[in-house]
Amino acid sequence: MTYTSIIGKEKIPELMLKYEFALNILETQLNILIKEFSFLHGYNPVEHIKSRIKEEASALKKLEQKGYALTYYNIVKHLHDMIGIRIVCSFLSDIYDIVDLIKSSPQFQLKEEKDYIKYPKESGYISYHLLVLVPICLNNTIEYVEAEIQIRTMAMDFWASLDHKIQYKFSKDLPKEISEQLYDFSLDIRHLDQKMNQLNQIVKLYDKK
Ligand code: GTP
Ligand code: MG
Repeated sequence: MTYTSIIGKEKIPELMLKYEFALNILETQLNILIKEFSFLHGYNPVEHIKSRIKEEASALKKLEQKGYALTYYNIVKHLHDMIGIRIVCSFLSDIYDIVDLIKSSPQFQLKEEKDYIKYPKESGYISYHLLVLVPICLNNTIEYVEAEIQIRTMAMDFWASLDHKIQYKFSKDLPKEISEQLYDFSLDIRHLDQKMNQLNQIVKLYDKK
């Protein structure tokens, strides 16, 4: 596939640079928020953080899949996850602590919130998504850049990674027997996360003794 006739193609390198700046800011601010939380509570709820900027070719492929014309404008308008950050936590309750932390920070503007823990996707996918606007200052003007933050436990991350890998093997829809099994496994993941969370509540009582 070649993408030679994209409207506004000449502006894409500058756009990618803006995404890079915004990701740098977002990562730094999140790291500070989490460090401060760890300092105040004597506990770090985060196992690890991963981030990426969607490559131009993947962005164009996604536009094509969604049926949008391949234009610079459509990347900005319709692709909300050009900047993606994934925060992987230990326990279920950590997710909500992180969500509250981000939502109460005056640094970001919340654009959208999707609670796929309370309302899992049909596939079985579970995670908490926040769409935030990251302010970047260029040429003495503030611009807001969208970023998707996915917050999930290690168990949810395990399921999502393998689900992604399996989905990738099938160019069309997943065969029913496979999607049904994946859904069943996601129920196991939900159950395990709940049990681990309950265990952690008991562990916390020991800490207080
Ligand atoms: P996109 O067109 O992918 O952006 O979907 P959307 O706009 O409906 O956003 P949504 O928040 O539902 O999902 C965005 C991201 O969540 C995806 O890019 C994946 O990283 C993740 N995701 C959503 N559904 C699934 C799923 O069924 N399996 C896996 N592995 N990941 C998923
Ligand atoms: Mg999306």
